[in-house]
Amino acid sequence: MTPSFDRKRKLDLGASYELQQENGTNPWTGKAYSAQYQKILQARLKLPVYQFKEKLLDAVSKNQIVVVEGETGSGKTTQIPQFLVEAGYADQGTSVVACTQPRRVAATSIAARVADEMDVPLGEEVGYTIRFEDVSDYNKTVLKFLTDGMLLREAMSDPVLSHYSVIVLDEAHERTLATDVIMGLLMAVLPKRTKDSQYGELKVVVMSATLDAKKFQDYFNNAPLMKVPGRTFPVETFYAAKPERNYVEAAVRTTLQIHQCEGPGDILVFLTGQAEIEQACEEIRASAAEMCGKDTPELVVYPLYSSLTPAQQRKIFDRAPGPRVEGGAPGRKVVISTNIAETSLTIDGIVYVVDPGFSKQKVYNPRIRVESLLVSPISRASARQRAGRAGRTRPGKCFRLYTEQSFHEDLQETTYPEILRSKMSNVVLTLKKLGIDDLVHFDFMDPPAPETLMRALELLNYLGALDDEGEMTELGYQMSNLPIDPQLAKMIIASPDYGCSEEMMSIVACMSVPQVFMRPRETAKAADEAKAQFAHQDGDHLTLLNAYAAYAAVPKSEKKQWCWDNFINDRSMQSADNVRRQLTGIMTKLQLPLVTTDRRGNGSFDYTAVRMALTSGMFMQVAYLQKQGNYLTVKDNQVVYIHPGSVIDSKPEWVMFEEFALTTKNYIRTVSSTRVEWLVEMAPHYYELSNFPECEAKAELELAYRRLAHSRSKN
Ligand SMILES: Nc1ncnc2c1ncn2[C@@H]1O[C@H](COP(=O)(O)OP(=O)(O)OP(=O)(O)O)[C@@H](O)[C@H]1O
Ligand SMILES: [Mg+2]
Repeated sequence: MTPSFDRKRKLDLGASYELQQENGTNPWTGKAYSAQYQKILQARLKLPVYQFKEKLLDAVSKNQIVVVEGETGSGKTTQIPQFLVEAGYADQGTSVVACTQPRRVAATSIAARVADEMDVPLGEEVGYTIRFEDVSDYNKTVLKFLTDGMLLREAMSDPVLSHYSVIVLDEAHERTLATDVIMGLLMAVLPKRTKDSQYGELKVVVMSATLDAKKFQDYFNNAPLMKVPGRTFPVETFYAAKPERNYVEAAVRTTLQIHQCEGPGDILVFLTGQAEIEQACEEIRASAAEMCGKDTPELVVYPLYSSLTPAQQRKIFDRAPGPRVEGGAPGRKVVISTNIAETSLTIDGIVYVVDPGFSKQKVYNPRIRVESLLVSPISRASARQRAGRAGRTRPGKCFRLYTEQSFHEDLQETTYPEILRSKMSNVVLTLKKLGIDDLVHFDFMDPPAPETLMRALELLNYLGALDDEGEMTELGYQMSNLPIDPQLAKMIIASPDYGCSEEMMSIVACMSVPQVFMRPRETAKAADEAKAQFAHQDGDHLTLLNAYAAYAAVPKSEKKQWCWDNFINDRSMQSADNVRRQLTGIMTKLQLPLVTTDRRGNGSFDYTAVRMALTSGMFMQVAYLQKQGNYLTVKDNQVVYIHPGSVIDSKPEWVMFEEFALTTKNYIRTVSSTRVEWLVEMAPHYYELSNFPECEAKAELELAYRRLAHSRSKN
């Protein structure tokens, strides 16, 4: 990497760039522009941001931070990063213009679009980076779209972000956890990246459709605000006359009505989660099949939620089917999505939006250390953003399934920032790695509750990532290299001590991807039987291990069929394979041994060793069986039940769990049994009895400590 670069030279490069463009040659490829490029260019030139190009570039050249507020569809995300590249802010191999996105699917799809717009192959001059997937070229890429979480990861190895010349923080109003942390980080980095600094000046462009501009300007040292008016096409909004009792049912009904009564154009429906979305997909498909044969055009339905693999998510961009008969009405596409489609995404052809007014939102309760997702009403800002999805490529309509009065009176103006609703252990580890020790005075736009920070520090201390002074330990450094939760990272790093790092990587890989076991409602019994082949009585983690091992043993050409026969999600397994490969790479980099207990290579694992390694990371997520038959979480004393989907049916005395789902009943999910003697041996600092709340588990722990002392005195 060149330590410094000359902005003047780069601007000259910019001039020759334009010269070449005028000659019809693509300066990046040296080839003539394609017909597709010319066609897209005509549409791009009409976008509202074009009138602001000069003003914007002028503001950026004069200020380190600029805030841009532009209506949805005005061309912010796709055009502004390109303006910056054309103006000479990027230089291959030394400085990149980055544009952050809160969501993976937005980062990948926008990168693809912009690569088309610049007439270059995706992954070369224009690329993207999301967790476990990097489609960019260090020496070639000049414009990179990445999730805000990935930028944070990159900052870990490059604390002043030396590889970047401009960071475009897109969708800032979403206030995701990572965006908020990046903003705070930039406040610390920007004074170190001024014009005459080693790596040259770093510019920041903060963008959003609906942001509280004043708050952002104040935060960013009175940065100038640029307003881009005008959405590309008008959107007509309709409200429900009276409140809907069941919003899923109402959404399905509205979608079918649009299909029958409205003109051509695709439909985007917002629901809150996977189960609801799949249910709505099925119902709409079934009704559409009944309509088939009449004059109604064909209808295809795609789900979109974050646990689908990127490949499945990309399906939403497939074209709607053509007319059934020549000259007939064209077919229609319906995308049913969580709020991941609320921002950034342009799904070509969407004309109708159905908005029931709900989304799943993260809620964290530091007292019981539980983070859960609850269905909650959206904010007015979200509702506007959703409506904006309809006017992207032509005039649209938005159907709000709540009353106009409710919109004005019941919805909050903006969504509560995620940082105030999340556990912070990951963030704290990241900040520590970045050398930020004084978390209390870190410049957060909205500081998280002190109790939440305390909980995070405590958790990292119990895991051994931070010492008692709050300093990062060697283990902490190793853990921060893994792009996963600290508990999972700890399990992986500890696993060689139990001789089972290969097993642990398989388990963690399966835990990092969408549902491995499929259970379609109509064939639930057969699916349960298939899963039973892999079931291990000691828990769901071991069951995942068995399933992964079985999958790995099947020849490549037969994997797809095997998955189908065994009710296993083929795409999830492919993703798990990819995640596992990356984990292996990181293990190798950290010089941690890759070892297995399956010495004969036939799947005969030492399950006890694997459970011990699991316990080393999960000793804080443990529940104890009460005499009445329910479980009580250790220390927090919450009554919980093992989720019915778990393979465990024998009610072991001690269990560890991955997830605490607050629904109608408090369920723990992905559960394995553990042993009291491991808990007291591995985590005596956590299971310290002097401050342990009175409960049935306490007597057991006391006994275990006595047994441990006894066996130690004998040795
Ligand atoms: N994949 C695509 N296919 C077709 N047209 C697209 C695509 N992506 C963008 N466009 C066009 O470019 C316009 C600008 O899109 P862009 O994403 O830059 O808007 P934006 O200002 O960032 O909006 P938002 O606030 O909603 O993120 C869209 O309105 C649409 O006309
Ligand atoms: Mg955008």
